[in-house]
Amino acid sequence: MSKIKLTFLLISLLILPALMYPQTSDTSIVNQNRMQWFRDAKLGIFIHWGIYSVAGIDESWSFFNDYITHYDYMKQLDGFDASSYKPDEWAELIKNSGAKYAVLTTKHHDGVALWKSDFGDLNVVNNTPAGKDLVAPFCKALRKNKIKVGLYYSLLDWSHPDYPNFTRNKKRYLDDSIRWERFTKFNLGQIGEISDIYNPDLVWFDGDWEQTDEMWRAKEIRNLLLEKNGNIIINSRLQGYGDYATPEQGLPVTKPQDDYWELCMTINDSWGYQPNDKNYKSIDQIINIFAQCLWMGGNLLLDIAPKADGTIPYEQQRVLKELGRWISKHETAIYKTNAGLPPGYFYGPSTISADSTIVYLFLPYKPNGQIMLKGINNDINRIWVVGNGTKLDYSIYLKPYWSDKPGLVFIDIPGSVLDENMTVVAVLLDGPLKPED
Ligand code: GLC
Repeated sequence: MSKIKLTFLLISLLILPALMYPQTSDTSIVNQNRMQWFRDAKLGIFIHWGIYSVAGIDESWSFFNDYITHYDYMKQLDGFDASSYKPDEWAELIKNSGAKYAVLTTKHHDGVALWKSDFGDLNVVNNTPAGKDLVAPFCKALRKNKIKVGLYYSLLDWSHPDYPNFTRNKKRYLDDSIRWERFTKFNLGQIGEISDIYNPDLVWFDGDWEQTDEMWRAKEIRNLLLEKNGNIIINSRLQGYGDYATPEQGLPVTKPQDDYWELCMTINDSWGYQPNDKNYKSIDQIINIFAQCLWMGGNLLLDIAPKADGTIPYEQQRVLKELGRWISKHETAIYKTNAGLPPGYFYGPSTISADSTIVYLFLPYKPNGQIMLKGINNDINRIWVVGNGTKLDYSIYLKPYWSDKPGLVFIDIPGSVLDENMTVVAVLLDGPLKPED
């Protein structure tokens, strides 16, 4: 073979696969595989646990906003004993709530690490009566229960002597590259530890708003995490280098454009334990919000707040148990489903089975006899009550033989089939859903 022919052959061999498997679609499939468990999980439990639970005040913000001095805030270190910390019980509660992942605050903005870090001295092992690593047993208990491990880490650290911001009104310095370099080393060091020691399935960053992506070295952080665990999932608070959006305390009104998202929400009005905060959402309100997330293709990350001794307040346990009852009864309509019908087809949230042949209708109200479904260009094979099995009667109107309109489906909902929180109805179609445009 001539040299030219050989070169041509070699070049073709190198280029052809690239043409056949364009990088973008390949990466997006890899990405989809990586994100699949997150998409299917639907419910996660957020855990804000730190020294702020000792006095029961706002996590970190209480000194940043000058409600208490940093000195007094740090006195809480002496009361954080974790004496009744039982991670196996936490994991069991989380599992029974129906959640498939949990996210623990390994370090909030106050800089107090829940593990013995070799970077910096401010951690619960060296500075509190707890005196031990609290993250490792948490990860172990979750894994034993097949719950994915998420670790929260605040990029900003208002206690670190080399971090520029201290409180709302006080800065340590304005521009000092040597100090910032030292802080960055510390930050990357701690993130490296989290990834090396615990190998989490998900890292939940926070506080990215105070610096740019270059300052944080966001790209480097992402690479560092992915290098250790190619399947790791990173939330959006990494200045553009995350995998999914995290609206906070604000349920989207319409379906977000993001492929993956998660609403993080407090169970009362506080992220951390505050015994004075009695404004708990009712189980009906939580299920309602959860169903809205499902409808719009997102997850709910519901926050709980253990006390300083590691016990989870009774009210919070109760909510998780009630949620667990409802989810386990309706699990076929929840896990592994996709976002539901666009608005207009049905009054209420809905989901669609992975193979798109079942539409699940959620009833956040007690219907007055019948519910109505519009715009479905399929024949219906059967309708039943999820988690109960009762076959439901239905009739189709406004579907004359000469019209190509799909008609209106009226489904009977007898009072006897209603769930105590929210009833869900399954509509089995003759094939994949064909909604009218
Ligand atoms: C906010 C707050 C923080 C809380 C977090 C949870 O960014 O800074 O206190 O931990 O939201 O999403």
